[in-house]
Amino acid sequence: MQASDVFWNRIARKYAASPVADPAAYAHTLDRTRSYLNASDQMLEVGCGTGTTALHLADAVAHITATDISSEMTKIAKEKADAAAVKNVTFAVSDTQLRDFADSGFDVVTAFSLLHLLPDIPETLSRVHEVLRPDGLFVSKTVCLAEDNPLIRMAVPVLQWIGKAPYVTFLRPEQLEAKIRAAGFEIVESGEHNKRSRGHFVVARKSG
Ligand SMILES: C[S@@+](CC[C@H](N)C(=O)[O-])C[C@H]1O[C@@H](n2cnc3c(N)ncnc32)[C@H](O)[C@@H]1O
Repeated sequence: MQASDVFWNRIARKYAASPVADPAAYAHTLDRTRSYLNASDQMLEVGCGTGTTALHLADAVAHITATDISSEMTKIAKEKADAAAVKNVTFAVSDTQLRDFADSGFDVVTAFSLLHLLPDIPETLSRVHEVLRPDGLFVSKTVCLAEDNPLIRMAVPVLQWIGKAPYVTFLRPEQLEAKIRAAGFEIVESGEHNKRSRGHFVVARKSG
């Protein structure tokens, strides 16, 4: 097990029970994402958590493979899919190396509230690039905390030490966008959907 799946497995049931922090911003993110989806699309969601977003978007595409490093998260996600009788979403345990999906040629890859939790964002972006078809889309929303209250930055290591916070990369939106471009994408839309929680939404097209 990696440190990150231990943390997320431990908090999975609590995470599943927490309400969406900003329902209006979440609805806007779903709407903007949906506007890029086609009924024939094969989609991959990375870091799907308990499957809420995949289950919301399932009717807009042909199939979603939704992955997460945490087996507890994917277990809850499967329970939710069964309860909602959603048949075109497959949940699987995977880290962001995406080893099982190398030649999949997905039309769309999504990652919501994930990239800031990763120690090596360029490596993940390069894996995402690899599993997309030419011209495929990468849709993400990422918490960008670099310009937030410095006390948060000071508190995070303490919270991590007592097991109450995961790994966090402190990003500025423009740094995030530069990393996405450097991985071989062109940005087609970006903006803030959650002003308070700093959720930076980016739609990028595979170009290189
Ligand atoms: C903040 S939650 C977001 C979940 C979901 N995308 C959402 O928007 O509700 C972050 C998720 O990323 C997963 N995660 C963290 N590190 C990961 C990694 N290296 N590979 C894959 N998933 C990871 C966690 O298990 C957790 O479910």
